[in-house]
Amino acid sequence: MPNSFLVRAPLLALLLVAACDGPSTGVEAPPQVRTQVSTQAAEVGTPFEFDATLGGEAFRGSGLTYTLTFAPAGGGLQGADGRITGTPAEPGVVIVTLTATGTTGAQATQSFPLVIFSRGLAAPQLPGVPFRYSDQGVPLPAHYLASALGGPVTATDNTPAGNPITDAGAALGRVLFFDRRLSANDAVSCASCHVQAAGFSDTAQVSRGFRGEMTGRHSMALTNARFYRNGRFFWDERAATLEAQVLQPIQDGKEMGMSLQNLVWKLQVTPYYPALFQAAFGSAEIDSTRVARALAQYVRSMTSTDSRFDRAFAGTGDSNNFASFTPEERQGHQLFLSSGCAGCHATNAHVSDAPQNIGLDAVTTDLGAGGGRFKSPSLRNVAVRGRFMHDGRFTSLEQVVSFYDTGVQPNPDLDPGLRGPDGKPRRLNLTPAQRKALVAYLETLTDHTQLTAQRFSDPFPQ
Ligand code: HEC
Ligand code: HEC
Repeated sequence: MPNSFLVRAPLLALLLVAACDGPSTGVEAPPQVRTQVSTQAAEVGTPFEFDATLGGEAFRGSGLTYTLTFAPAGGGLQGADGRITGTPAEPGVVIVTLTATGTTGAQATQSFPLVIFSRGLAAPQLPGVPFRYSDQGVPLPAHYLASALGGPVTATDNTPAGNPITDAGAALGRVLFFDRRLSANDAVSCASCHVQAAGFSDTAQVSRGFRGEMTGRHSMALTNARFYRNGRFFWDERAATLEAQVLQPIQDGKEMGMSLQNLVWKLQVTPYYPALFQAAFGSAEIDSTRVARALAQYVRSMTSTDSRFDRAFAGTGDSNNFASFTPEERQGHQLFLSSGCAGCHATNAHVSDAPQNIGLDAVTTDLGAGGGRFKSPSLRNVAVRGRFMHDGRFTSLEQVVSFYDTGVQPNPDLDPGLRGPDGKPRRLNLTPAQRKALVAYLETLTDHTQLTAQRFSDPFPQ
């Protein structure tokens, strides 16, 4: 794309016309691009001034006069004699086109992006030595490697061979994740809808995007997103990989509203990014593939290994021990196994492996992955999410457990795992104490270490 607007077709036509223009004596050569103007940066509310002719170096030719146009137009900027002046009124990316006209009327043109940032954006505060995110620096615990409740957690790892977690890669991903520059008007970051203290979900039923519009579904929790065997993402699995997924919210018309080209231009003129890309990928080059890889590394690094459930393994490594649990939590753990929950929320990381229809409604309204089937995020940190299910309909774990107990609806696509022998929706008929015990067990999956860790926290000063 950049090349196509550097030299435009009319310029070539003019060159041809000039070449056929008879005897060359006394004929002025048409202007030509000499130096391509690089991407420029400005800030809303701060007076901006720029000589787009680069002091006469932008074009080759003599006696040139210049005109400037802006797309989109207006927004507080004016152009005269090749100089841009004014005070930008709105954040966004403006394409500036500069035309040079020679004494014979022959013209040449070039365009460049002008990024207008919103006012008062800060730079991140990063540690001198990057935090550790890689498997070497933060090894997975033994009970993630052991086979339990449907196999070892690591058998569900969706990390591609070409994008393992590195400390520098995830450190860049962290900055990108919290950077509001990733949205068209610098209003929201990934973290606006994926809040660390809420297990990287949102306690609101639906989230608000860059212009305040509401998302169609509840924000998904990201804890343990690394562990999902088929590697597909979103409630309806529409993204084939995490690397493909992370670029979608940026381009989504409601969420962040930005083209990948504008994203790359914005990051290229943000002073702290070239060094972070250099550290992560060995060169300062910024492109959307690298953005995707860094964001995916950071998201995959959000593994939960220090909940009370994990601590029950400490010392013994024994998955049948749970001596550190209260009697109620132990009862809840047994009910989680005996009620079939562990069949779908499997392994020691409590992850699922396929989308299912759990009978939330008798008649499907949102098809999800087809037939009202949805992916479940890992149940790690589920207690701090505030809202539950793809539409965020439930506001407490008590409601979720009551639903599985007596509320499963006779949807034609209901998963067999939630049907009784007669094919009808299964009823658990739990006592109030048993329901309470199941909730208590789900609360042992809360990992306060992950919810407060500095390496996952907002690096931008408030
Ligand atoms: C405006 C709110 C919003 C923003 C901003 C946002 N997300 Fe999301 N995110 C959501 C919602 C809502 C879903 C679920 C959408 C769906 O499945 O249809 C989701 C789903 C996801 C998932 C899928 C998780 C899974 O297990 O399948 C990932 C990963 C994710 N977001 C990462 C990001 C990243 C990275 C960014 C920043 C580049 C980001 N999100 C920005 C709201 C947001
Ligand atoms: C047939 C598979 C299956 C079984 C059995 C099952 N679940 Fe689920 N669970 C899912 C799916 C799929 C979702 C997401 C559904 C949606 O949002 O539409 C889910 C969602 C949840 C959620 C909400 C997660 C979130 O982030 O919003 C909780 C909590 C939960 N299940 C707990 C349980 C408990 C407790 C049991 C046992 C009583 C259980 N599940 C049994 C498949 C299952």
